[in-house]
Amino acid sequence: MADFFRLDGKVALVTGGGQGIGEAICRRLAAAGARVGVFDRDAAKAQRVALACGGIALAGDVTCEADIDAALHDIQDQFGAVDLLVNNAGITGKAGKLWELTRQDWETVLAVNVLGTVLCCQAVVPSMRSRGYGRIVNIASIAGKEGNPTLGPYSASKAAVIAFTKSLAKELVGHGDITVNSISPAVIHTPILDGLPPATVEYMVARIPMGRTGKPEEVAALVHYLVSAEASFTTGQCYDISGGRATY
Ligand SMILES: NC(=O)c1ccc[n+]([C@@H]2O[C@H](COP(=O)([O-])OP(=O)(O)OC[C@H]3O[C@@H](n4cnc5c(N)ncnc54)[C@H](O)[C@@H]3O)[C@@H](O)[C@H]2O)c1
Repeated sequence: MADFFRLDGKVALVTGGGQGIGEAICRRLAAAGARVGVFDRDAAKAQRVALACGGIALAGDVTCEADIDAALHDIQDQFGAVDLLVNNAGITGKAGKLWELTRQDWETVLAVNVLGTVLCCQAVVPSMRSRGYGRIVNIASIAGKEGNPTLGPYSASKAAVIAFTKSLAKELVGHGDITVNSISPAVIHTPILDGLPPATVEYMVARIPMGRTGKPEEVAALVHYLVSAEASFTTGQCYDISGGRATY
C-alpha cells in the first residue's frame, strides 16, 4: 500500500504538548514521520514527551511573545521552519456562573485560549506564506458551539477560536497550499477534567450519545488527517469529534 498520510520531512509545533491531547498529537505526528517541537509551559512535561517521540522540548507560555519567539528560534535551528502548527494549549479556567466570576477569571482564559492561539499563528504564518505551504489546526471545543453552563469564559473562548480559524483560513487562500482548520472535541479523558467540578463533567458526558469520554488518541488521529498533505481542499472548517453530541 502507498504511504498515505506520511509526514516525513515535515516540522510540527504542538502547543500544550506536555500531556493529554497534546501529548497524543505529538506521539502520533512523530510516528507518522514528523519532527516535533513540544511546546509547553511545564518544561518537565515537555521534556518527557519530547524524549518519548524523538522531538525537542520547548518550554514557554503561549501568551508570551518572547517565549514563542525563543521556541521558534530553537525549532528552526534544530529542525527547520514549522510546516505544521497545532494550537492545542488551553485551560478551562474557574467554573462558575456569570455572577460568580470576575473580570480576571475571564481575562485568564481568553489570554491562553484565544490570544495564545493568535500569537502562535502570527509567529508562524509569515514563514508558511513565504514557503507557500502550511497546515494549522486549532483545538476548539464543543463548548464553543453549544456553550456549557458554568464555563462561560471557556465556551466563549472556544467560539472565538472557531471564528478566528475561519477568518485566517480565508486570509490565507491564494498564498499557496496553506490550510487552517479547527476541531471541537466533546469530553476527552485527560488531566484537564481534574480541575472541573464532577457535576460539570457529568453534565458533559450525559450529553454524549455514545455515553463515554473520548480518548486523546482519537483526537490525534483527526489532527493527523488535517495536517497531512492529503487534506489540501479543506480549510476554515470546524471538525466535530464528540461521540455524536454535535448535530451540526
Ligand atoms: N479534555 C477535554 O475534554 C477537552 C475537550 C474539548 C477541548 N479540549 C481542548 O483540548 C486542548 C488540550 O486539552 P487537554 O485536555 O489535553 O488539557 P490538559 O490540561 O491535560 O493539557 C494541557 C497542556 O497545555 C499546557 N498549557 C496550558 N496553558 C499553557 C500556556 N499558557 N502555554 C503553554 N502551555 C500551556 C499545560 O501545561 C498542559 O500540558 C485544550 O485546548 C482544551 O481546551 C479538551
